[in-house]
Amino acid sequence: MAYFTTRNCYLTILSLLIISLQLTTSKAGVNNHTTNVARHPMDPLTVQEINQVRVILSSYATNKSFSLHSVVLEEPLKSYVLNWRQGDPLSPRKASVVARFDDGPFLMLVVDLKLGRVDQVKTNPLSGYPIPTLEEMLAALTAPFSSAQFNKSISDRGVDFKDLVCAPLSPGWYGKKEENKRIIKIQCFSAENTVNFYMRPIEGLTAVVNLDTNQVIEILDHGKHIPIPKGINSDYRFLAQNNSNKINKPINPISIEQPTGPSFKVKNDHLIKWANWEFHLKPDPRAGLVISQAKFQDPDSGELRSVLYKGMVSELFVPYMDPTESWYFKTYLDAGEYGLGLTAVSLDPYNDCPKNAHFMDGVFVADGKPYIQSNIICVFESYGGDVAWRHTEGNFAENKVREVRPKVKLVARMVSTIGNYDYIIDWIFQSDGLIRTEVGLSGIAIVKGTKYKNMKEVPKEEDLYGTLVTENAIGVIHDHYVAFYLDLDVDGSNNSFVKVDLRRQETSPEKSPRKSYLKVTKNVVKTEKDAQTKLSLYEPSEFHFVNPNKKTQVGNPVGYKLVPGANAASLLDLEDPPQKRAAFTNNQIWVTPYNQSELWAGGLFVWQSHGDDTLATWSNRDRPIENKDIVLWYILGFHHIPCQEDFPVMPTVTSGFDLKPVNFFSKNPILAAPPNFENDLIVCPST
Ligand SMILES: *[C@@H]1O[C@H](CO)[C@@H](O)[C@H](O)[C@H]1NC(C)=O
Ligand SMILES: *[C@@H]1O[C@H](CO)[C@@H](O)[C@H](O)[C@H]1NC(C)=O
Ligand SMILES: *[C@@H]1O[C@H](CO)[C@@H](O)[C@H](O)[C@H]1NC(C)=O
Ligand SMILES: *[C@@H]1O[C@H](CO)[C@@H](O)[C@H](O)[C@H]1NC(C)=O
Ligand SMILES: *[C@@H]1O[C@H](CO)[C@@H](O)[C@H](O)[C@H]1NC(C)=O
Ligand SMILES: *[C@@H]1O[C@H](CO)[C@@H](O)[C@H](O)[C@H]1NC(C)=O
Repeated sequence: MAYFTTRNCYLTILSLLIISLQLTTSKAGVNNHTTNVARHPMDPLTVQEINQVRVILSSYATNKSFSLHSVVLEEPLKSYVLNWRQGDPLSPRKASVVARFDDGPFLMLVVDLKLGRVDQVKTNPLSGYPIPTLEEMLAALTAPFSSAQFNKSISDRGVDFKDLVCAPLSPGWYGKKEENKRIIKIQCFSAENTVNFYMRPIEGLTAVVNLDTNQVIEILDHGKHIPIPKGINSDYRFLAQNNSNKINKPINPISIEQPTGPSFKVKNDHLIKWANWEFHLKPDPRAGLVISQAKFQDPDSGELRSVLYKGMVSELFVPYMDPTESWYFKTYLDAGEYGLGLTAVSLDPYNDCPKNAHFMDGVFVADGKPYIQSNIICVFESYGGDVAWRHTEGNFAENKVREVRPKVKLVARMVSTIGNYDYIIDWIFQSDGLIRTEVGLSGIAIVKGTKYKNMKEVPKEEDLYGTLVTENAIGVIHDHYVAFYLDLDVDGSNNSFVKVDLRRQETSPEKSPRKSYLKVTKNVVKTEKDAQTKLSLYEPSEFHFVNPNKKTQVGNPVGYKLVPGANAASLLDLEDPPQKRAAFTNNQIWVTPYNQSELWAGGLFVWQSHGDDTLATWSNRDRPIENKDIVLWYILGFHHIPCQEDFPVMPTVTSGFDLKPVNFFSKNPILAAPPNFENDLIVCPST
């Protein structure tokens, strides 16, 4: 689910614009964005560079007004980045821009900042529109009020206009009627008596607005007889809770202490060095958090070995499972329709991230100008009392051996709040070479208004499309699919995808008392279509990404494997319009040859896209992928059948996956890691 709201807009987004346009700096004030310069080929555009883009575009189209839908770094060629070394001069910086001049078509421009000119102009031949600008969304929110019919629907329900909160919803794409115009759907809530207006939907009322003209196309009102839920006990703020209730046993404040300071370093704002890892970290308006050039220094050879050239969330598909008029279109593609970075929030320094965290700002564009979204990434070392490795030998012997190492991790985190939902995206680096990615879902499960107050009133045959979570409110069933783009470069760019299949092998009675065992067969995947994989417990495989050109001392190819965690698959009809647009969810694993222009699993322009530019289209070209620079796509899914505990705000649900070394190192890479000693630590004993 995905949206801003009028209130949110006025309270947070406007203040964000106003305050941030004055260039508020990050918490520690270490970063003066006015004077920042790029020092790494992957560094995001600076405030100065974005201003330069504006100047260049003004002279490019004299006397024309322009709107900027996206301004990001045009990343240099991968071959250049791979050869670049710290201290080398940067190649001329370029910006990749999506803009519109007057009411012309959406153009994709490459702006050369050094030469001060537009290098390249293209239109998108495929369907879809870019992310609307914040100004367009804000304007669309006011459009329905030009309609007397809309006003009447609001007043008829007894809602005071001052309590109205409205949300700009992406419409998906459902055929011809919606072609050739950009549309947006507006639905509203009552914020009377609660901050949690999501629990008070004005059910069935939808205004369809033309985003270009800001005219109302249609008002749909299918909910006249559905009461607005009262929103009792829906306030989630701490101060609103019943503090005289002594049954809840609070947990004492907790934090992690590092008596000698953190062990990671942030160089030139974006380069992170921790344990044997080093990687580049940056915010991106669309992808959220981007990891580049993650490398691990081999503890034996000292060599800095590449693992991941680039990792990020490429798209996020959230289809709701209610086919009725006011709900069928809610099939969001949040990254391409709203932007995971644009919706990233300033993190709470004591609760979103631990006290030892370092914060990073985002420099994005709103109202055609650069602005700072402060503290949207935090980086911290995390220790949850876990064990990295251990063994005890001869527990009862006098000369017993006991070796244990604490498991400390480095986390890079961003939280995107896309309307009601909060996505917590973590990239976790372990000293044993493992990279774990976790997605936490929290926030507010959106509800649908209903006449029912109790399940006993609901006829047996009626499909509620969800769970009655409180009186007059149904938490609607939905899915989330996070598409990860993982350009693995395991010890070099040319890699192969190997399916390591585990199958039952029968034995013959004369050879063994056993009837069966598990046999491993390694299958090198030759082309894209063969790489399309659906996970199965009964035909399991390991998914190895090896460098066939590099062998270990004992002759195994060096590799990393993808280790899926809990996952869910889309069960929608392949021809269902939302499934076509999100065809990247047809499989959990895809592997494509590296292509600089294949980054966004749902297509380049996603708003009202038809599904003609998805990962599925590219992959069906069936290009060779053996011993080539390849990209792994992993689709992480969640089914969500809401329950009462999701009301009024959801406890976080987490899943993820690992990228784990497999024959990459010659032995356990943290063998030499020291244990903690008593004198190293400050301990506050429990009382
Ligand atoms: C940032 O740098 C500019 C130009 O040097 C200066 O005018 C401004 O005061 C600096 N801001 C902060 C917060 O240090
Ligand atoms: C831009 O507008 C000005 C003032 O109206 C006019 O003098 C000038 O010729 C225009 N330039 C172009 C390139 O159309
Ligand atoms: C609808 O109501 C709003 C808010 O009271 C008002 O500003 C607007 O003029 C009304 N529109 C019409 C067509 O009456
Ligand atoms: C708060 O909790 C106490 C103890 O359970 C209960 O007696 C009281 O009625 C509650 N107050 C409210 C406002 O719910
Ligand atoms: C990768 O393989 C291609 C052929 O597919 C070859 O041209 C290129 O040199 C190889 N790159 C490396 C780094 O080995
Ligand atoms: C790279 O991707 C673009 C967009 O999908 C496609 O048009 C082009 O043919 C691709 N190039 C190769 C070599 O596959």
